[in-house]
Amino acid sequence: MINIPTQVLAVDPRDPQPEIIRKAAQSINAGALVAFPTETVYGLGGNALDPRAVQRIFLSKGRPANDPLIVHIAGIDWIERVAVRIPAKTEQLAREFWPGPLTLICPRKETVALAVTAGGEKVAVRAPAHPVAQALLRAADTPIAAPSANRFGHTSPTQASHVWDDLAGRVDLILDGGKCPIGLESTVLDLSVDPPVILRPGGITRENLERVIGEVHLASRSNPGGSSEQPPSPGMLDRHYSPAARLILVASNNRQAAVERIRALLQAHILEDIKTGVLTVNEEIHQYSDLNVEVISLGSILDLGQIATNLFAGMRTLEQAGIEVILTTDFGQKELGLAIHDRLNRAATQVIHLE
Ligand code: TXA
Ligand code: MG
Repeated sequence: MINIPTQVLAVDPRDPQPEIIRKAAQSINAGALVAFPTETVYGLGGNALDPRAVQRIFLSKGRPANDPLIVHIAGIDWIERVAVRIPAKTEQLAREFWPGPLTLICPRKETVALAVTAGGEKVAVRAPAHPVAQALLRAADTPIAAPSANRFGHTSPTQASHVWDDLAGRVDLILDGGKCPIGLESTVLDLSVDPPVILRPGGITRENLERVIGEVHLASRSNPGGSSEQPPSPGMLDRHYSPAARLILVASNNRQAAVERIRALLQAHILEDIKTGVLTVNEEIHQYSDLNVEVISLGSILDLGQIATNLFAGMRTLEQAGIEVILTTDFGQKELGLAIHDRLNRAATQVIHLE
């Protein structure tokens, strides 16, 4: 059992109070763990140059030691603190998209604790844009290793209460800066291969990247049949973003067909007394109003950004309502749809493909 006192401090997400940031930075410098908001999801931060702090991150999350962490830096001016031999395309992308939701795989500098990279010679680096993350990095004046601040295998936290639910007693301080604006984790791009490969789609889309550096490939989803083949990034394990409830994803280009399939499943589940909830969109919520089930709208179908922002929180809300099965649809694979598609497929225990 881990049971350390966890303090929660509210912080202004736009204009963080210097005294709160100073306290959080002192904690980081003392080797403590600080959960903080980023524009993507909350991070569980520790000094990336301090092997003991890094080890505490793995223990706190229950994360296997072979799954490397992202190192957060304030901006491109810090990159030489964590990486060496920065390739031209990496620099180009960093100049274009940092600070922001893009993680670039770089050759590791030896000052970065080896545990961060799971013993490997490549380090994942990102400069977060969120004012609290920026202020914390600048005040601590050290690179901060930070995975998403959830227990390993659980849905990433997009608000401080999610961090508390997963990590109370396992983290020294939680900075509560409200909701994360993007709501999905950063894009992870491997530039050690040519063309570069997206290991995890996220807030910076494939289209965004290709406009700057040309062709970019997408790593194929690993291990569907549980083959022994090693996934390119351990975070690409199929079941990774799982709510406690089972999630059934209905994938179809025909939205009305998907709605009808979900209605049929709901009716069957009501008869079988299986507590079932739906994640839907504003335009379709009325289609379930005659059924007595929990229905959450993620936003408008016309705004993928809104759907992304609300997705993980929607899963957690249904889970806390004691829902056993979550039913939802896919939202295409263009632009941000690809990242949503990726998270839904990883969370799903079953995917139903309709014509
Ligand atoms: O948006 C984000 O990236 C958030 C916030 C806190 O910045 N962080 C985050 O970290 O999602 P985490 O640890 O939950 O996911 C990091 C992903 C994992 O899939 C991991 O396997 C991959 O990045 N990764 C980290 N270092 C890597 C490396 N050296 N090579 C390949 N993949 C790496
Ligand atoms: Mg994570």
